Amino acid sequence: YYIGIDLGTSSVKMLLMDKDGNILKRVSKDYPISFPHPGWSEQNPEDWYKQTLIGLKELIINISKEKIEGIGIGGQMHGLVVLDEKDCVIRPAILWNDNRTIKENEYLNEVIGKDFLSKNTGNISFTGFTASKLLWMKNNEVDKFKKISKIMLPKDYLVYKFTGVHSTDVSDASGTLIFDVKNRCWSKEMIDICGIKREQLPNIYESYEVVGNLNKDLMEELGINTKVKIVAGASDNAAAAIGTGTIGNGNCNLSLGTSGTVFISSDKFIEDENNSIHSFDHADGNYHLLGCMLSAASCNKWWNDEILKTKEYKKEQEKIKDLAENEVYFLPYLMGERSPYNDPNARGVFIGMNMNTKREDMTLAVLEGVSFAFRDIIEVSRKLGVNPTNTKICGGGAKSKLWIKILANVLNMNIEIIENEEGASLGGAILAAVSCGAFASLEEATNKIVKISEIFMPEESLVKKYEKKYSKYKEIYPSIKNLYK
Ligand code: XUL
Repeated sequence: YYIGIDLGTSSVKMLLMDKDGNILKRVSKDYPISFPHPGWSEQNPEDWYKQTLIGLKELIINISKEKIEGIGIGGQMHGLVVLDEKDCVIRPAILWNDNRTIKENEYLNEVIGKDFLSKNTGNISFTGFTASKLLWMKNNEVDKFKKISKIMLPKDYLVYKFTGVHSTDVSDASGTLIFDVKNRCWSKEMIDICGIKREQLPNIYESYEVVGNLNKDLMEELGINTKVKIVAGASDNAAAAIGTGTIGNGNCNLSLGTSGTVFISSDKFIEDENNSIHSFDHADGNYHLLGCMLSAASCNKWWNDEILKTKEYKKEQEKIKDLAENEVYFLPYLMGERSPYNDPNARGVFIGMNMNTKREDMTLAVLEGVSFAFRDIIEVSRKLGVNPTNTKICGGGAKSKLWIKILANVLNMNIEIIENEEGASLGGAILAAVSCGAFASLEEATNKIVKISEIFMPEESLVKKYEKKYSKYKEIYPSIKNLYK
């Protein structure tokens, strides 16, 4: 058996897969997220570990434990986890959607300079990236910064607890801005700029490489007697790409989760001249482009939970009749925005209501607004000459067929639905299975495991209507962005 774990922002999801790629069981455990100030976002790494262990015990109860061969983890990117020399967590992890580092981000982009950053790392700085978080600690938590013995990313904390090996993989390291993406190694220049030392950083692995075995204490606690290999794992986006078969060159996957991402695989290193979408290493040994919006399915969650006060998302969507006739627009910038605007001060907006506007019009505006923001990212990749016509989709929001239909028409792309879609946790299990020799290659594994069950195709009349709506939508942010300052 192989275990795949997705260390997400709202929960840790895990699954058990057999050597033929059949998914036997899934378990998910939640943990809290805290927003100690507007725009800040933190989680406690110990919560991740505790909930992962509880989930693992449930996952492997009643199975022949000696058959467990490997574990692979995909995790939320960019989060800063710091340990002291006794391996204790120094402060809560500062997450990917935290915007506290506006000053440090400006310092990196303006003083160090975007050209320098892009030359040494392949990217410019965004508030979510790890380098600005380290500088923030250096500026604001001087004593804690001095105590740092190990720097790691969220899923690497689990790998460390599992194996005692301080490791990371190329796809996750790509989002630190301390890493030279093109050459797949730490950047000496960026290490100096962040005021850290190479010894504080983990060793780099390819995602499918084994970093160690499950430690003895955990084997005992989980009732396992045979060796279990732990692979380096991947960023959640790269793991989800593996889990949806998005490997090789020019293939696309959308993730409609807390964040919204457009992931395009590439066999060469490509950089957007404005760096509004990221250039990262893929878990398959190649590269990828990644556009990331900070709030995607989370906008719909916010709208239903906080405003409509309901958990019946599906029922709310069933009230929606005509698509693209709505006059209401929604900008989904509830946590600021990363791609393509890189504006941590941006906020959500509804515009265009009238006396006849109903609750379902507002619900539809939320689904459409998020879809238009995906289109903003696709437009950047189209300008780069990368123009996928088909895409896979994963993430919690992809449970809504209505949302997928809207996306297919707004993006004018075929959206392929995957049977038993599991995203990053499946990707983690596949990485472990390939590493343990269950499949000859990632390609062989994904060809066998990932099956398309349905395709949503754009409809000409809806595409036209959405084209018109999008041309208005894209005027809104530039007209109001000065209000955000
Ligand atoms: C990608 C990003 C998010 C997180 C979500 O750059 O910040 O997609 O990885 O977990």
